[in-house]
Amino acid sequence: MRTIISAGGAALMVVVFAIALVGAQQPKPIVRPASPVKAELAAAQPVPWMLLAPTPPMGWNSWNQFACNVSEQLIRETADAMVSSGMKDAGYQYVVIDDCWQVSRDANGVIVPDAERFKSGMKALADYVHSKGLKFGLYSDAGARTCQGRPGSSGYEEVDARTYAAWGVDYLKYDWCSTDGVEPKIAYPTMRDALKASGRPIVFSMCEWGRSQPWTWARGVGHLWRTTGDIGPTWQSFTRLLDQQVDLWKYAGPGGWNDPDMLEVGVKVGDRGLTLPENRAHFSLWCIIAAPLMAGNDIRQMAPEIRDILTNREVIAIDQDPLGAQGRRVRQDNLGRGATVEVWAKKLKDGGQAVVLLNRGNADAPMAVSWQELGLRYDAEPMVRDLWAKKDIGRVKGTFTATVPAHDVVMIRVMP
Ligand code: GLA
Repeated sequence: MRTIISAGGAALMVVVFAIALVGAQQPKPIVRPASPVKAELAAAQPVPWMLLAPTPPMGWNSWNQFACNVSEQLIRETADAMVSSGMKDAGYQYVVIDDCWQVSRDANGVIVPDAERFKSGMKALADYVHSKGLKFGLYSDAGARTCQGRPGSSGYEEVDARTYAAWGVDYLKYDWCSTDGVEPKIAYPTMRDALKASGRPIVFSMCEWGRSQPWTWARGVGHLWRTTGDIGPTWQSFTRLLDQQVDLWKYAGPGGWNDPDMLEVGVKVGDRGLTLPENRAHFSLWCIIAAPLMAGNDIRQMAPEIRDILTNREVIAIDQDPLGAQGRRVRQDNLGRGATVEVWAKKLKDGGQAVVLLNRGNADAPMAVSWQELGLRYDAEPMVRDLWAKKDIGRVKGTFTATVPAHDVVMIRVMP
């Protein structure tokens, strides 16, 4: 490293000298050749902590569909399906094993994976996931035990971080069970420091369920922080969590994201599961609020309609927009009997906006959004594109109107 830096320093001096020389003669444009030193320097540097999540992380996590039923076979098949289904090409990167992969600690305090379910060991599994061009993630807990009673990381942060790094872990979800008497503001930075010290860039996903309002303090500690309790595969659960995000928009941005929990798109647990329009609504809203997109369904055998939702690139582009603004609820209208329709909008880097019209009622609803509500001139006439129908609507003057089916959305992109 030292040699590279001094080589970089030498290169800089040569450039400065060259500029001085050129300046002394006549003002010619300076054409600098691509610097091999700079390229080498960039390759040698680990990705800086704050640059690990410039947009909300995307991937898959085992918990929502499989709970404790995890194994290396499931993870290998899921990695294969990430590629063959087009999820990887659509931007999904991390394959994360949630709770229940770990069983004990050895005499040196090193965490021991379930040898029955992970026969080849975690290093081999991480290598396999990496061989598919994907990244590998694990789960632990800030307390003595995980939420499923497995060994937690309390008191073992450094040895765990070193172990993860040696295995090739790229992402750690860090839960909050068995933490009586522990302070999130101490426990999470402790693990963050251990991960940093491991020398491997590891995305840090904080999961203390919003208890200590992490959005107010966790930027620079985690790359994403859960804002709520656990999601379930129901409309009630999704909308309840959505309501809890309304005031949090100001805390999200490149490097640190509000996490309203993982996706339930296509998840079936017993007789619980979202309908197709509900899946579309859930995905659209998670994208408009710049949520991390961690799929939770069995992607090895998902229906084409579910795959089409999870891989709609124009909708994903709204979530991943480089401006990193979290969308806001612009308006909520009461339809009576507790049903509402809502307008959500997210500012985009190109100066445009994405808009979701959400119908939370049980019957079709005519809806409208005026450009003025979005901060545009009342007589603006922007181009509008329907992101689910995947077609241009053309120029629309003043107000956009649509009929939105029950428990569904219309999602548009309004061009600058
Ligand atoms: C907690 C988390 C969930 C999941 C389970 C695993 O409930 O919030 O997302 O990780 O633990 O036990």
